[in-house]
Amino acid sequence: MADLSTQKILFTQDQIWEKAKEIGKQITEDYKGEEVVLLCTLKGAILWMGDIMKNIDLDTQIDFVCASSYGSGTSTSGIVKITKDVDMDLFNKHVLIIEDIIDTGTTLKYLQDYLKERNPKSVKICSLLDKPARRIADVQGDYIGFTIDDLFVIGYGLDYDQRYRNLPYISYLEG
Ligand code: IMP
Ligand code: MG
Repeated sequence: MADLSTQKILFTQDQIWEKAKEIGKQITEDYKGEEVVLLCTLKGAILWMGDIMKNIDLDTQIDFVCASSYGSGTSTSGIVKITKDVDMDLFNKHVLIIEDIIDTGTTLKYLQDYLKERNPKSVKICSLLDKPARRIADVQGDYIGFTIDDLFVIGYGLDYDQRYRNLPYISYLEG
């Protein structure tokens, strides 16, 4: 367990909800008249997924995928594995990946290429957080909640060693 007494809160639940409203409105406009599959990446994006889907007024289906490039530490192994596959047939569908954070981009790059093999109509990315300073792979988010510095953050779905996903805010530990 980490010592949460030194944590600094970056974004509150209210700030995240306001951002989800803004982005949800934008997505609703951009996909007007179209069906969209919201593909939530497990486990980190579950709370953001909930906020985004409640703010989208479109013909929407949801699915879940788990692509993992991390061991139990805080840096990427570079090797991506799909540990829970997409259930839905994505052929000719607009797929919007709902992600927690784009860090090195390794996971999303792999997932994007993996999904494109299923011949969807489009694949876009909606990420709660973006940490561009650490980018290795050529990946850009289409909808970004907040851009942050090179900090290891926890809460609102994001974990440190599988813990703290339940915190109703995003914080970082001063270390
Ligand atoms: P990437 O492949 O390096 O972009 O890493 C993607 C995954 O690493 C994210 O979906 C997160 O699960 C995890 N990750 C990256 N940065 C952080 C962080 O600051 N806190 C918690 N998890 C993180
Ligand atoms: Mg993680």
